[in-house]
Amino acid sequence: LFRLGTRDAASKKTLLHYSANACLLPICSLYGMAVTTVEGVGSTRTRIHPVQERLAKCHGSQCGFCTPGMVMSIYTLLRNHPEPTYEQMTAALAGNLCRCTGYRPILDACKTFCKDSVCCQSKANGMCCLDQEEDLFDRKEKESARLFSPDEFQPLDPTQEFIFPPELMRMAENQPKRTLVFHGERMMWISPVTLDELQDLKAAHPKAPLVVGNTGVGPDMKFRGVFHPIVIAPARIPDLNVVKCMSDGLTIGAACSLSLMKDVLRNAILELPEEKTKIFYAVLQQLRTLGGEQIRNVASLGGNIISRKSTSDLNPILAAGNCMLNLASQGKRWIPLSDIFANGVGNNAIMPEEVLVSVHIPHSRKGEYISAFRQAPRRENALPIISAGMRVLFEEGTDKIKDLSIFYGGAASTTVCAKQACQTLIGRYWNEQMLDEASRLILNEIILPNSASDGKIEYKKILIVSFFYKFFLEVLQSLKTMHYFFNFLGVFFFFFLMIQNVELSQSPQDPVGRPIMHQSGIKHATGEAVYIDDIPSVDGELFLSVVTSSRAHAKIVSVDTSEALKEPGVFDIITANDVPATNEFHYSDDPEIIFYMICISQVICVGQIVCAVAADSYAHAKQAAAKVKIEYEALEPVILTIEDAIRHNSFFEPKRKLERGDVDKAFETVDHILEGEIHIGGQEHFYMETQSVLVVPKGEDKEMDVFVSTQHPAFIQEMVAASLGVPANRIMCHVKRVGGAFGGKLLKAGLLASVASVAANKTNRAVRLILSRGDDMLITGGRHPFIGKYKVGFMNDGRIRAVDVKYYINGGCTPDESVLVAEVSLLKMDNAYKIPNLRCWACACKTNLPSNTAFRGFGFPQSGLVTETWITEVAEKTGLSPEKVREMNMYKEDEQTHFKQKLDPQNLIRCWNECMEKSAYYSRKTAIEEFNKQNYWKKKGIAIVPMKFPFGLGSRYLSQAAALVHIYTDGSVLLTHGGIELGQGIHTKMIQVASRELNIPMSYIHFCETSTTTVPNACASVGSAGTDVNGMAVKDACQTLLKRLQPIINENPKGNWNDWIKEAFEQSVSLSATGYFRGYDADMDWEKGEGQPFTYFLYGTACSEVEINCLTGDHKNLRTDIVMDIGCSINPAVDIGQIEGAFVQGIGLYTMEELKYSPEGVLHTRGPDQYKIPAVCDIPEQFNVSLLSSSQNPYAIYSSKGLGEAGLFLGCSVFFALRDAITCVRNERGLKKTFALNSPLTAEQIRAACTDDFTKMVIGRWGSDLYLLWNTYWAT
Ligand SMILES: Cc1cc2nc3c(=O)[nH]c(=O)nc-3n(C[C@H](O)[C@H](O)[C@H](O)COP(=O)(O)OP(=O)(O)OC[C@H]3O[C@@H](n4cnc5c(N)ncnc54)[C@H](O)[C@@H]3O)c2cc1C
Ligand code: FES
Repeated sequence: LFRLGTRDAASKKTLLHYSANACLLPICSLYGMAVTTVEGVGSTRTRIHPVQERLAKCHGSQCGFCTPGMVMSIYTLLRNHPEPTYEQMTAALAGNLCRCTGYRPILDACKTFCKDSVCCQSKANGMCCLDQEEDLFDRKEKESARLFSPDEFQPLDPTQEFIFPPELMRMAENQPKRTLVFHGERMMWISPVTLDELQDLKAAHPKAPLVVGNTGVGPDMKFRGVFHPIVIAPARIPDLNVVKCMSDGLTIGAACSLSLMKDVLRNAILELPEEKTKIFYAVLQQLRTLGGEQIRNVASLGGNIISRKSTSDLNPILAAGNCMLNLASQGKRWIPLSDIFANGVGNNAIMPEEVLVSVHIPHSRKGEYISAFRQAPRRENALPIISAGMRVLFEEGTDKIKDLSIFYGGAASTTVCAKQACQTLIGRYWNEQMLDEASRLILNEIILPNSASDGKIEYKKILIVSFFYKFFLEVLQSLKTMHYFFNFLGVFFFFFLMIQNVELSQSPQDPVGRPIMHQSGIKHATGEAVYIDDIPSVDGELFLSVVTSSRAHAKIVSVDTSEALKEPGVFDIITANDVPATNEFHYSDDPEIIFYMICISQVICVGQIVCAVAADSYAHAKQAAAKVKIEYEALEPVILTIEDAIRHNSFFEPKRKLERGDVDKAFETVDHILEGEIHIGGQEHFYMETQSVLVVPKGEDKEMDVFVSTQHPAFIQEMVAASLGVPANRIMCHVKRVGGAFGGKLLKAGLLASVASVAANKTNRAVRLILSRGDDMLITGGRHPFIGKYKVGFMNDGRIRAVDVKYYINGGCTPDESVLVAEVSLLKMDNAYKIPNLRCWACACKTNLPSNTAFRGFGFPQSGLVTETWITEVAEKTGLSPEKVREMNMYKEDEQTHFKQKLDPQNLIRCWNECMEKSAYYSRKTAIEEFNKQNYWKKKGIAIVPMKFPFGLGSRYLSQAAALVHIYTDGSVLLTHGGIELGQGIHTKMIQVASRELNIPMSYIHFCETSTTTVPNACASVGSAGTDVNGMAVKDACQTLLKRLQPIINENPKGNWNDWIKEAFEQSVSLSATGYFRGYDADMDWEKGEGQPFTYFLYGTACSEVEINCLTGDHKNLRTDIVMDIGCSINPAVDIGQIEGAFVQGIGLYTMEELKYSPEGVLHTRGPDQYKIPAVCDIPEQFNVSLLSSSQNPYAIYSSKGLGEAGLFLGCSVFFALRDAITCVRNERGLKKTFALNSPLTAEQIRAACTDDFTKMVIGRWGSDLYLLWNTYWAT
């Protein structure tokens, strides 16, 4: 990420700072600018910048991979606005993604710079956030909520910032501007300075694109294989940068950035009379959510208009607003923007040699109303599914339509106009009859191509009419009140955290239980933290790009690498023939394969590695990889979905079943039986650091260093050694830190490390393999899609007596851990409920999708959602509230699970009761009912969901752990253990443990890396268990050392640590010790259906409130309260971060993240533009997390509990709050009561469930099961 200082072209006086996406920014476009990267902002070697300090100290980093980006966004904001407002803060962060933190701590850090940081300044209902806080939490609780202390922060001093380099300043002032030409290996960049010159260039190279922000051209070149040998950059031409306020409107240069345009419009709105600025306001509305700030800072107005993308937010509103384009070629001409679309108002195509110079946005007139609309998969920083611009002009003093224009984006390949509908409606009055006619006319006129690849045809049609209806209502309202309401307020976030205080008797030096900053926090924020791709290149290093199968089930007939080998920089192509030993790994009957090649195997999904190109740079490797030709022979069947697998009887064995009580008999005695099914889509890990490995052959004895981003180095070592046919003692795996994993860096990381090692072995060079985001998403699989089919027997009073449920999970093409996921989903499916007669089955389906794997929660997020769904349906059938049915069926006393493991649910009930109280559940429920009575098109919903999360890895050997502690003669301590730092703060916690045990300050202790050379055979860092098991091992090692030191301490009790260590060395006492933890007893007999697979249970409850827009399906997460029992927290800052981060990932799973495959099994959603993970705008506006007090856990270190995964499931409280809101809509409309909602519950599904006249108009029938039409078949 960059911060650019440039001279403002318009004023030549102001310095502008702006953030941009480095990956899209052409280096040639930076001429004359100063670039600041995160390293330039501050560093541990010089001075840490307050932004870096506060982000780290407010616990705003976990894995740290996103942190430099966050720093740059906040830093740029502060350079432009040293005391930013809330709106500016949220806008600045809207374009950044974080997969770990859930954003709360990042916002907290940012808020410390805001001038209005103490209060939301909104006195809605007569109360502001602080008043509410007073109400909800007593003073003692508030005092406990300190995770950082602002008194420690350095002040922000803008005078200490870098100045714009004087040489660049002089250059801008003194040097005459001249044309610049840059030549690259394959490309030429020409940057003219006059319009005439530009026109000549355009005439000479009509095919060359004009590149300003490169946000349109760049992605095409980077991801879609488009190549332009010549690029013309017009950004330095003054005519294209004008901003003129004219008597009839604003003229804005085509090269002006969207950010500049936003500022210009905003200022004009503040200065001009309201009546004149309605178009400006509508355009501004779209600009606020268009892309993120990094995109708007560079993307140009001209680029957006001319690329005429179907999904443009601006074109529909600019066209409806009668904006004019100033075009230049041989001469100049002005045309209405609406003319450039195929079915536009006129028919005025832009010639290839024409250049857009500027755009004129007119003032609005008296009696004119204009609005813009959009609905996107995410509220911000996502291309719209449908956008719209609408304008109506009435005959003076009447509501008779004089002029009307309606434009839509997203409906066809470019912006479209409802031209005929508008003409027909002229002369009509603005009333219900007009609305009805208009809706039909618009629907008839706007034809959506049936081939829409996103499959949202019905949804788009409904949005098309719903937007018109919104417009109708807005205009009606304005006609009544004669007032137009401009609202600039952004979202205000309010957070409250309650942690456990440490005992007053605890030594101040003892860090356990305190909110210690992540050990790498500052390094994350300064960009000094090293990930695999940051490791300096090794002499002669090669880069690898993989070639993957493009068929879901086929035989490879031939692989032709001849063209690829001729490409520049190519060193070699690696295939299965180059694997010295094992190309197959057997964890069950079906093998996992490194390279799929001719004769070796068939490809069984799209995205399997066929070969890999090694070249001198990544760009060369990628270029050559695209030239490898593979011929296939299609094989049958192609099984993609769970339904396909059931039809073909295609499963991984064994299938599992658990049963308690007499289910069949119980069904005979119950009052009611309900049956249903729910589909739950998969989820992409979307760790910020993609799969990465660097293999360095050491040159002797076949030794290799493998630097790898994994959760399980011992496993990588085993796989690499096996594929190379060398003993494991030659392979040294090193892991410093991992930029997020969430379960995705186990087996898949092993396969990729093997690929890189085979390449390194063959070429005898260091080899680096960093998967691109697209390849990573394509190859590595993710969370298992699920289908849950249930039959539930219950009594009139809500007691559930019998449940029979089947889970089918889509395992993909190889077994990976799918059977284990199926087993865990069965073991955890009861969630918080005691069901006396219960039968559950699970089977993993074998399909031709990429193989799915472990993902935070490991089956529970899916089976738990199925359970909560039938609980909710029982409530609907009995007419009881869901919380009553939950409460009634919850575990209450010392109980047994359905596989006879004992549990004490006391803390489950405490979490539930505390959450009820802290969320003020009942009073808010009443307020929501009141709100819903008064609002027809908006509804609120609330849900409270309990959770029991069993902890355990299923067998003792999987939870063993070891540590190694060295004390050096200067007293410093080097600590290592088998756990991996994935962002969960394990090393921080381990240092806390060692500090307590050795009774020395944390600053004495250093953690370097996890390595197979220091701790052999370490188990994977999975299943929330890292701290539990490694903590025990670290404690053991420290106690061994302390025992050895004790006689020396006893002899010199007044001495200090250094004295004792010196003495110990002189007395030949060993200062190095290993520690070991044998693991937890665990067993499960699947034949009997009984066992003790878990060590202990975590509990929690979440209450969420949402608001849905019934016309669009959009929703807002208003508030979430979580109470979580995590025993005694070792580090509350880290633990709260884990809860929040997991929860927000859960929001993604249950409401946003959609994986889409083609009918041929090709994953469509292969990057952040198609696959939306939660961003800042998606977290609850009020987000409160409390840790349950006085909870003990005898099984884990210092009475803590392993909590990395648990919070994810609680994200389903948002799903059920949405369901509550939808239920309210359906009850009000007299629709069928029970209805199925699948996950993710996206805007599309919400809209489908809120059946109304518009859905009827589109679908042609009422249908409570409308969602079935839209259900993404390929998701499960
Ligand atoms: C991550 C991301 C998110 C985005 N989100 C949104 C969104 O939410 N809504 C939305 O509407 N858009 C969105 N966009 C699209 C973005 O707004 C456009 O890509 C951008 O406005 C194009 O401007 P540019 O200067 O970057 O164009 P460039 O890539 O530089 O050029 C694009 C095209 O326009 C032509 N062109 C540029 N200037 C002129 C000119 N003066 N005369 C003639 N032809 C010209 C070029 O020849 C080229 O073909 C997003 C893009 C990205 C990458
Ligand atoms: S800390 Fe943000 S992605 Fe890991």
